[in-house]
Amino acid sequence: MKNKKYPKPLIFLHWFTLILLVIEIILGLSLEDKEFSPKDFNWFRAHALLGVLIMILTFIRLYVRIKNKNRLPEIEFYGNMHKVIVTGVHHALYTLLIIIPAVGFYMVYQTGALQYDLGGPFPEGAQLDESLHEIHESLVYVLIALVAMHVAGVMMYKMKTGENLLRRMCVKK
Ligand code: HEM
Ligand code: HEM
Repeated sequence: MKNKKYPKPLIFLHWFTLILLVIEIILGLSLEDKEFSPKDFNWFRAHALLGVLIMILTFIRLYVRIKNKNRLPEIEFYGNMHKVIVTGVHHALYTLLIIIPAVGFYMVYQTGALQYDLGGPFPEGAQLDESLHEIHESLVYVLIALVAMHVAGVMMYKMKTGENLLRRMCVKK
């Protein structure tokens, strides 16, 4: 049977991911003034750990979602186009929450710096690949644009239908 609200674990993961994302983006931007060297490596570590955590939480979220597939609240779409956009944005958000950390991880991995985490020496002259850096950065901007579309969509839905979708994503009655 369909529920009126999202299951509690999905509600928790939705808002917790939002908080982690804000911290992660601020942390990512602050890395620009840091050196990719043992001196500043803890900043890169913190960004990497948080990013990987976001990725793991997204996999858990998708698992919980699949398990509860038949009980999720339904959206009344205004038309086919609306359905395509909403579903597309949701799929793209989940995909980016996995691809962005994966690209970030690969960017650090290809420098050889992971051996430093395992107790080895820091690779001499290690440099981040410029193309991977640009891909990572551009995907973050796409993510931010999609989140803005997503929030605008929730507000437009309220204006068009009078229904506040936020209630379905909140534990409170
Ligand atoms: C959802 C997860 C993530 C988000 C939202 C994110 C976001 C960002 C942002 C906003 C930047 C700054 C981009 C710029 O240069 O202007 C950045 C840079 C970077 N991120 Fe991430 N990141 C994520 C995951 C990861 C992971 C998992 C790793 C590594 C394991 C990673 C490694 C890096 C590195 C190496 C940089 C370049 C820092 C520099 O400028 O030197 N990121 N990230
Ligand atoms: C202030 C920011 C945000 C607001 C107000 C918001 C609001 C909502 C609401 C009300 C829903 C439920 C829609 C429904 O009833 O069907 C929802 C679902 C969703 N939100 Fe957000 N959201 C925000 C940020 C985010 C962020 C940062 C992400 C991910 C990067 C995200 C990803 C999703 C996804 C994927 C769904 C669909 C859930 C599913 O059916 O699997 N949201 N959001």
